[in-house]
Amino acid sequence: MDKLAIQGGMSLSGEVRISGAKNAALPILCAGLLTADKLHLGNLPKLKDISTSLTLLGHIGMQVCLNDQGGVDLHAAELSRLEAPYELVKTMRASILVLGPMLARYGEAKVSLPGGCAIGSRPVDLHIKGLQAMGAEIHIEHGYIHAKAGRLQGARIFMDTVTVTGTENLMMAATLAQGVTVLENAAREPEVVDLADCLIAMGAKISGAGSDTITITGVDSLHGASFNIMPDRIETGTYLVAAAMTQGKIKITHTRADTLDAVLDKLREAGAEIELGENSITLSMQQRPRAVSLKTAPYPAFPTDMQAQFMAMNCIADGVATVTETIFENRFMHVQEMRRLGANIEIEGNTAVIRGVDGLQGAVVMATDLRASASLVLAALVAEGETTIERIYHIDRGYECIEEKFSQVGARIRRVH
Ligand code: UD1
Repeated sequence: MDKLAIQGGMSLSGEVRISGAKNAALPILCAGLLTADKLHLGNLPKLKDISTSLTLLGHIGMQVCLNDQGGVDLHAAELSRLEAPYELVKTMRASILVLGPMLARYGEAKVSLPGGCAIGSRPVDLHIKGLQAMGAEIHIEHGYIHAKAGRLQGARIFMDTVTVTGTENLMMAATLAQGVTVLENAAREPEVVDLADCLIAMGAKISGAGSDTITITGVDSLHGASFNIMPDRIETGTYLVAAAMTQGKIKITHTRADTLDAVLDKLREAGAEIELGENSITLSMQQRPRAVSLKTAPYPAFPTDMQAQFMAMNCIADGVATVTETIFENRFMHVQEMRRLGANIEIEGNTAVIRGVDGLQGAVVMATDLRASASLVLAALVAEGETTIERIYHIDRGYECIEEKFSQVGARIRRVH
């Protein structure tokens, strides 16, 4: 299994080019199931989660053709199997995103229940309830969701928890339903808007994406389109925090600052100077970061996917910070590993209290989930000596060429096979 070996102590400087957003790409790939025409996608990130998703879509019968420019042609003229097997769903929960499209276009789908995952129980009850409200008959048998429907019917659906993939699944299903669907308390994440934009390019009638009420008027069929996936805001945020922690200066290119308000605010509070250009963000940090307290919540509030990275920064910051996680119940697994590097963190319920220390020391640590692993890379960049991060397959799920990108801006990082 691959490991990352990182020598701390370098201040980052230079430019980092951001890849396409994983969390926008995953639903948009599944949107390819909604049409018999070709869907061309550009700016697809090269990530393990994307290849898992393409394997799943290929298993279902979609023709997938990758090109050298980071694009892909998807063609779901006819599907051979309306099934997402456990082996694929267990490695990536977002596989549940094939449920809505398969059911809407073919009236049938069998998708493995995702089961628990490292960061909490993460049920899919709201996906199921929403599809039932649209007329689907759903039962769970042998760990699989079996869904059947004639043509789905538009419905008013209220989700009592804000769910990103839940909103996306129901929005995709509603594009081909008969009549109007209204999704209330919908997720407002930029990735939901990106998916809506792609669906609209395919002929869907959607309004309100980006607000908490999305209205979809069903159409008889969708057509092919060409669409570029938005930049990854979490990858952007991760490199910005790295620059702030190492008291460096970096320019992030091919990104979108308008998707990062809460993160940029917190970086400014920590003492960073931030300049916004067209599609770029330049951050410079000239002193030790100040501790910043935060609480995660659905967009536009502070993203749970940036919580661990800010925890890493607080470990070496000046002062005491509290970090409260409100989205997932078990998302502090990086804390144990950060303590191995010398961090002073106490956990009280869903809040971590972090007392900044003068320095961290390199050690062997273990990646536990995607964003937790990223936070360990950040901590390692400022730790004295060498840190080895094991189980980095978690990082490869969501960060394209992480060691190349960090090396380009001066980090001493290498992959050990
Ligand atoms: C998505 C993101 C993930 C991010 C998360 C929260 C993708 C592929 N993944 O995950 O990176 O961390 O949003 O921003 O986009 N819930 C229910 N019932 C449901 C669905 C969700 O109770 O049917 C709960 C979950 O347990 C969790 C909360 O709702 O507590 C939010 O989860 P959700 O937004 O669904 O996360 P994902 O879409 O899986």
